[in-house]
Amino acid sequence: RSIKSLTTSSSSHILRRGYASEAVPYRKVAVLGAAGGIGQPLALLMKLNPLVSSLALYDIANTPGVAADISHINTRSEVYGYSGEAELGKALEGADVVIIPAGVPRKPGMTRDDLFNINAGIVKGLCEAIAKHCPHVSMELLLEQVCLYVRVNLDGLVELYLALVNMISNPVNSTVPIAAEIFKKAGTYDPKRLFGVTTLDVVRAKTFYAGKGKVPVAGMLDMWIYYTDLVSFFGSEVNVPVVGGHAGITILPLFSQATPKANLSDAEITALTKRTQDGGTEVVEAKAGKGSATLSMAYAGAVFADACLKGLNGASDVVECSFVQSTITELPFFASKVRLGKNGVEEVLGLGPLSDYEKEGLEKLKPELQSSIEKGIKFANQ
Ligand code: NAD
Ligand code: LMR
Repeated sequence: RSIKSLTTSSSSHILRRGYASEAVPYRKVAVLGAAGGIGQPLALLMKLNPLVSSLALYDIANTPGVAADISHINTRSEVYGYSGEAELGKALEGADVVIIPAGVPRKPGMTRDDLFNINAGIVKGLCEAIAKHCPHVSMELLLEQVCLYVRVNLDGLVELYLALVNMISNPVNSTVPIAAEIFKKAGTYDPKRLFGVTTLDVVRAKTFYAGKGKVPVAGMLDMWIYYTDLVSFFGSEVNVPVVGGHAGITILPLFSQATPKANLSDAEITALTKRTQDGGTEVVEAKAGKGSATLSMAYAGAVFADACLKGLNGASDVVECSFVQSTITELPFFASKVRLGKNGVEEVLGLGPLSDYEKEGLEKLKPELQSSIEKGIKFANQ
């Protein structure tokens, strides 16, 4: 049931460069929903990440095959497959980052909110397990890694270190508040450690903006950031903050802050905004009943998890957009640029200067986002 593979050498110069240092700390990443459309390619990308020491792949079925397959790749991390609820605790124990792409995807004609009835229950169950198992690392692991897993709070009480939770399951605008409520009930809520993954909106905004504005898109270079410093060597990559939430008009790309600057008309900005907001639907319709974005989402999820790991490891200036507990607007959760650090969220960054068009978009999105947040909170407390 547990599949383990440990490789210590690589014939690839590029890979060796990434994990040769003895100083890379032990990091466990758990993927819940690992046998799914997102889960499989995401697990693959996490296996390629030299910051990962142990990769736990959990699903209700089919994980042994996925884990066996991925475990043959000669990169640093050990791979373990866990199948069925009885093995969920083991998958979670000692995890530094838990990524959740578990749940059903949309079909044409559906909104993300139409997934609520099924996915809310799935997320609730998984978060109850996270609250139960993640802070309760085994005594062996605790003794081995006492500095990593134990911290002393302001009252001098010893607390167990919680995982960073990366929520991918839709509707993110509601599943993140559900997770927060479940953790609150269990007494384990730490707002610095809960993230709604909105990276795919940023990835899309970057791609569409670079295409329309004829500025270089980072593309493959973003992937190579795992292994090399090519991105910093080549200089600027396209960047577009995306704020708000992750559904329709709640997705608000801030093209006025995009870099490098491109000379785009108001009509072009409006069209780019709409395309970014409808990016998920574009894929759902193209897949014609066979699900929603999986490959681009796996890429986006891997970028965000990599940022979390870099922050945990003490890298400086790690900034990504994410849907987190926030005070930058009157809404309790909001996506914006977030600085990541050793404890998760180090700082929720402000919105910066907005164009009139973006200010209008911000006001329009608030009622919908507020109601999705309330729906999640109500579900978790009923
Ligand atoms: P999928 O159906 O291909 O895979 C989902 C997996 O979750 C399946 O393997 C299933 O067995 C598993 N699963 C179901 N219940 C589970 C449970 N209780 N515990 C563990 N695993 C469980 O779907 P997908 O295409 O991978 O999409 C997954 C979710 O991600 C959907 O809700 C989708 O809407 C969402 N999504 C979010 C974004 C985003 O930007 N945040 C992007 C794309 C998709
Ligand atoms: C996406 O943005 O691709 C995801 O949220 C999946 C979907 O249903 O659109």
